[in-house]
Amino acid sequence: MTASGTFGYGTEYSQLFDIQRLGAIVCKGTTLKPREGNPQPRLVETASGVINSIGLQNIGVKALIKEKAPVWAGWRVPVIVNIAGDTVEEYGKLAKELDGVEGIRGIEVNISCPNVKAGGAAFGADANSAAAVTKAVKAATSLPIIVKLTPNAGEIAGVARAVVDAGADAVSLITSVKGMAIDIKTRRPTIGNVTGGLSGPAIKPLALALVYEVAGAVKVPVIGCGGIATAQDALEFIMAGASAVQVGRPRSAIPAPPWMSWKALRVLWKKRG
Ligand SMILES: Cc1cc2nc3c(=O)[nH]c(=O)nc-3n(C[C@H](O)[C@H](O)[C@H](O)COP(=O)(O)O)c2cc1C
Repeated sequence: MTASGTFGYGTEYSQLFDIQRLGAIVCKGTTLKPREGNPQPRLVETASGVINSIGLQNIGVKALIKEKAPVWAGWRVPVIVNIAGDTVEEYGKLAKELDGVEGIRGIEVNISCPNVKAGGAAFGADANSAAAVTKAVKAATSLPIIVKLTPNAGEIAGVARAVVDAGADAVSLITSVKGMAIDIKTRRPTIGNVTGGLSGPAIKPLALALVYEVAGAVKVPVIGCGGIATAQDALEFIMAGASAVQVGRPRSAIPAPPWMSWKALRVLWKKRG
């Protein structure tokens, strides 16, 4: 599968390679209202991964249902919608909106978002909040639910057990890890939002250990994610207990993901004039 936020809505890549060969596409995190995202700069390279702080820039659930779902309905590859909210109620509303929409085959619940009502700590950092979100989503939809766990939680196996008890059909992990970089010339953080999420090869050992821990704690399928760049990496995750994997931004210091051939880049270049 593609990891949320690294593959847009799938439509952007459909002319570059045969996306129907993918196991599934997980689209960009979607909120109730459209969001413009965080201040620039939002992406910085580090030695072995990128730090991003996109801030959930997205078109909002209404536009997603109107513009994207009808296209997805004609695809062989299943599309899973990643959702994000600031309150438990928002998650429930999002799930209700998506329920029964043709072209949407599942929901991935991003619980790394700050829980506005509980003072800004991530839903995923606390088993009770994570379970409350899962329950609200489960009650609002008959679609399969994947809950995406954050490595920034103290006790991830406890959170995993809580979301499964609350109705999650599968769990995916991990989202990016809180990170920071500073430009020593300007003495300022290189990310506009000061900190962001680190992803890529740097987080693979951490993700693998957490997948191993969670796979031992729950009986539902576990989807591994974090720094997977090669088939060998994917096999490591499967050996650690994952049933499937997601690939985001595989390598640092290369301008494009490996599926982008020179031919594909030329097509893009021409399109941009
Ligand atoms: C630019 C960017 C945007 C992302 N946006 C989201 C998002 O909207 N929702 C989400 O759950 N995860 C998001 N992620 C996290 C990825 O889905 C994935 O969990 C993380 O990047 C680790 O995988 P990787 O090392 O293969 O990239 C984003 C990651 C990146 C790099």
